[in-house]
Amino acid sequence: MSEIEVLGVVGGGFMGSGIAESAARAGLTVVIHEPEAAPLERSRERIEASVAKATRAGKLTAEEGEAMLGRLTWTTELEDLRGVDAVVEAIIEDAKAKGSLFKKLDALLPDAVFLASNTSSIPIAEIAAWTRRPDRVIGVHFFSPVPVMTLVEIVRAIDTSDATLAAADALAARMRKHPVHTADRAGFIVNMLLVPYLMAAIRMFEDGFATREDIDEGMKQGCGHPMGPLTLCDFIGLDVMYAIGVSLYDEFKKPEYAPPPLLKRMVVSGHFGRKSGRGFYEYPQAPKPAAAKVPAAA
Ligand code: 3HC
Repeated sequence: MSEIEVLGVVGGGFMGSGIAESAARAGLTVVIHEPEAAPLERSRERIEASVAKATRAGKLTAEEGEAMLGRLTWTTELEDLRGVDAVVEAIIEDAKAKGSLFKKLDALLPDAVFLASNTSSIPIAEIAAWTRRPDRVIGVHFFSPVPVMTLVEIVRAIDTSDATLAAADALAARMRKHPVHTADRAGFIVNMLLVPYLMAAIRMFEDGFATREDIDEGMKQGCGHPMGPLTLCDFIGLDVMYAIGVSLYDEFKKPEYAPPPLLKRMVVSGHFGRKSGRGFYEYPQAPKPAAAKVPAAA
C-alpha cells in the first residue's frame, strides 16, 4: 500500500501532465504546479482532452472521468503544494533550475515522504545536494507517453534511504507501472542504450546516408519498432534530446553520446520536433515556439 495519497507534480509539460494524469487515474489526488499561467492552461486542456478520449473509447465511464478530473488541481503558486505527501518534479533538464526548485521544496515540505525528479540524465546526487534531507531524494523516470508506457526507472542516489526507495516502488505499483532499479549514472538503463542509437540515426541523416523516411522505415519494418528513430527524436523533443546527449557526454566522454552538429543547429533554430511544428518532419498543427534556445549544458 502506497503511503502517498496526495502527490505534487512540478512542471506541467508533456511529461508532467502525463505523470499527473496517470496518478489521478490510479486514484491519487494531484496538485500540478507551473509558474506560468499559459503552460498550466495547456496542461489542463491536454489532460481534459485525454480523459474525454478515454471516455469516448469506453476506457473510463463519464463518472470515472469526472471523478478523476476532480482529483486534479492546477496552480501557479508553489506554496499550494504545502501538505502534499510527495513530489515528482518534471521541469526542464537544467541542473541549476532543478537544484534551486528542490531547495524550495525541501523548505516547503519538511514532512514529505520523498522528493523525486523525473530527470533523464542529471545526477540525482547533484539535485539532492541542494536539500537538507538527501536521504529522501530519488529519481523516478517515466517514459513518454506516460499514460501508455508502463516502465519507471527508480534511481537510487548515494544518500537515498531504503524507506525512500520502498515508497517510490509503492507509488510505481499504485500507478500500475513496472519499476526497474538503476544506479545514479547519467542515462540510467534506457537512455544509456537508446541515446547512442538515436544520435547515430541523426548522424546518418546528417551525412546524407539515407532519407529520413528510409531511416525510420528501416527500423520500423526491419526491427518492429513502433516509431523510427527520427520520428522518436521529434516525439521526445529535440531540445530534450540535445540536453540528454550533453549530460551523457559530460558524464562518460564517449563520442556516441555527443549531440551531432545538426541537432544543435536545429535546436538553436527552434526546431524542437513535434511540439514546435518542425523537427526532422513537419507538424503543421503545432504552435510555433516563443523563442529558440539551447538548453544549458550540464
Ligand atoms: N495519452 C494517453 N494515451 C495515449 C497517448 C497519450 N499521450 N498516446 C497514445 N495513446 C494510446 C492511444 O489511445 C491508444 O490506445 P488504445 O490502443 O487502447 O486505443 C494507444 O496508446 C496507441 O495509440 P495510437 O493508436 O494513437 O498510436 P500508435 O499505435 O502509433 O502508438 C505510441 C503510439 C504508443 C506513442 C507508439 O508509437 C510508441 O510506443 N512509440 C514509442 C514511444 C517510445 O519509445 N517512448 C519512449 C521515449 S524515451 C523516453 O520517454 C525517455 C526520455 O527520457 C527521453
